[in-house]
Amino acid sequence: MNHNIGESVRPSEGNEVNLVRVLMVRVTVFALLVCLCASVVIFYQAKVRIQTNIMQSGNTLVQLLKNEVTRTKGSFQFSLDRLEDISLTSISDIASAMGVCTEVKNIFNQTVIDQCFGDESASPRIISLGLSKLIDINMRSESSLHTSNSGVVVGQLITYPNINHESNKIWQQLSVVFIMTLSILLLNLLIYLPVRKALNPTDEILKTISLLENGDLTARMPKPELRELRRITVGFDHLTSRLECTLAEQRVLAQRLLTVREEERRYLARELHDEFGQLLTAISADSTFLSSRLKSTDPQALPAIVSIKTNTSDIMANLQNLLSQLRPQGLTEFGLKSSLDYLVESWQRRLPDLCIIFEVDGKLDGLDDNTNVTIYRIVQESLTNALKHGKPTKIIISIKKSSDEIDITINDNGCGLNIDETNAGNGVLGMRERVAALGGVFEIIQNKTDGVCVIAKIKLNANTTGQTYG
Ligand SMILES: Nc1ncnc2c1ncn2[C@@H]1O[C@H](COP(=O)(O)OP(=O)(O)OP(=O)(O)O)[C@@H](O)[C@H]1O
Ligand SMILES: [Mg+2]
Repeated sequence: MNHNIGESVRPSEGNEVNLVRVLMVRVTVFALLVCLCASVVIFYQAKVRIQTNIMQSGNTLVQLLKNEVTRTKGSFQFSLDRLEDISLTSISDIASAMGVCTEVKNIFNQTVIDQCFGDESASPRIISLGLSKLIDINMRSESSLHTSNSGVVVGQLITYPNINHESNKIWQQLSVVFIMTLSILLLNLLIYLPVRKALNPTDEILKTISLLENGDLTARMPKPELRELRRITVGFDHLTSRLECTLAEQRVLAQRLLTVREEERRYLARELHDEFGQLLTAISADSTFLSSRLKSTDPQALPAIVSIKTNTSDIMANLQNLLSQLRPQGLTEFGLKSSLDYLVESWQRRLPDLCIIFEVDGKLDGLDDNTNVTIYRIVQESLTNALKHGKPTKIIISIKKSSDEIDITINDNGCGLNIDETNAGNGVLGMRERVAALGGVFEIIQNKTDGVCVIAKIKLNANTTGQTYG
């Protein structure tokens, strides 16, 4: 995994909620639950109704039957041999309403009439199966048929549930529930589609945020139709514009500071070189002259002269060191490429076992002084860091110049970054500041395999206004 120094930590995405999907699922589950509960209630009511009907139907139907026979045949009501002639017309209305079947048996327990009343139209078989499982299949009501004057039992009237009738009733009620459930689901879809359309720009918004995160402050938010989202995106764009202005101002300021600093350093380096360098050279020459004279005239004074010479050359060495820190050696005189060649060669001389590859693609002339110094310092600090912290065996320095950008990459195969220490010193901070002042992008990342990679991208046209020195 690549680790960028200063990279913002993204919040965990574990609690992410997809609003549209959550709404859709919840409403669907709700509709199905309502449908299920309603179905259970319908079946339960059917069960209670069947039980009540069967309990009540027996005596009522017998009574109706007796009344009918009395009305049509006088006092002789049921005869033993003509039981099958009984007309069930009188009970058909109420039996149909109750949804029962009636069976008439004679005293020999033979079925003489078996007729079902109610709605016999077809319903899904699963409903009748479910209903049969739910109710007691042997549920029935039995009432005796007897003559009214002598009270002799002539047969039995048995009533039992008409499953088809009840199934149809249930099916009708369930159809209503299904239509309601489908309506809820349809409504859900009707809500889902516009909500999804309204929230669609979120992908684009996220893309824009990611562009902004990567430093592209010219990126602007889409214009969503949803009023709330639109207000947020407009606010965001306003914020980005402000940030862009502030950063541009900061960049100008930083560039100015960089220019002034480099100018000051250049001036100091020149003064030190011209004034102190000349004086030290003169002291060195004088002490050489004195030592040759004192050799014959006053040899005892020779150690003092030797000490002056040694001190002078120490000061000259320190001065050289100071000068190279103030101003990259030979940068003004010989240009960036030669200075970098010299820098790489000096490290190579000191560490012959280390493999340093230095590649340049494109001509490095004509860059302004700030860019030259920045590139030089990045290479210098990255080389130093790699050798100081990474102990690599190979370092590849690559500089690519295109028409509008310079890409600098320093790759080493050392032990890699220790994230806790990455902000420990001033080197990385300095590189980052220099690149930011030129409006560029700086990254220091842990390589996938081993070592560290420093990447700096500097836009050329952004710095053409930079002051150029001698
Ligand atoms: N090439 C590298 N390999 C391994 N670690 C590195 C490399 N470059 C930078 N680092 C890590 O980043 C840290 C910060 O580097 P930086 O140059 O800012 O500070 P420094 O080198 O410790 O001190 P100085 O201020 O002298 O430069 C280092 O301490 C080191 O842990
Ligand atoms: Mg350093």
